[in-house]
Amino acid sequence: MASMTCQPPPRPGLPPSTWEATRRTVLKAMGTAAAAIGVAPMVTACSDHRTRAVATTVDLTLKINGTEHELTVEPRVTLLDALRERLGLTGTKKGCDRGECGACTVLADDRRIKSCLTLAVMQENTAITTVEGLASGPDLHPVQAAFIRRDAFQCGGCTPGQVVSAVACIEESHTGSADEIREWMSGNLCRCACYANIVAAVQDAAQEMRR
Ligand code: FES
Ligand code: FES
Repeated sequence: MASMTCQPPPRPGLPPSTWEATRRTVLKAMGTAAAAIGVAPMVTACSDHRTRAVATTVDLTLKINGTEHELTVEPRVTLLDALRERLGLTGTKKGCDRGECGACTVLADDRRIKSCLTLAVMQENTAITTVEGLASGPDLHPVQAAFIRRDAFQCGGCTPGQVVSAVACIEESHTGSADEIREWMSGNLCRCACYANIVAAVQDAAQEMRR
């Protein structure tokens, strides 16, 4: 079976020990340079086996729930982690962290997206709405009120994602029937299996929002 270990490319005329020494020399030089300017570069081995340094952090402005937040993050930070870990907006939940459960759903320019699947740096020019941004002061959003009225949750782990997704589902007019709601809410899983109540809540809220 082929080895999965990343090997340096052969260099004609030089023994392997020399390749390693060359790589180490590069890494050491980078460390020294980084220390001199006061940053710790992230080092990555790319597919063609060359070692390179990439930017450690980027400055960006995220517009969340109508407020602009200035952040400095590593380019690899997801929108979900930026919301939760950097901005303290923990209403958006981390379930699977790989795009399967929908617990992390937020609105990006009114389109629902899974925030674990997008990088914070990719959302700089987007208006993000999280579950915290739905209510108007003390007045719950009709979808939030309907979820409570219809008892559409148990543990609550999926609920913020369900609520945000339901807001978009209603705005998209995918509420013509229970089946249609189930189909268009199918990206949001509920381990407590509150689906019947969730569909009822979405129907209620859709009716109320159409009035
Ligand atoms: S946490 Fe993003 S889809 Fe599950
Ligand atoms: S209420 Fe528990 S996962 Fe949905």
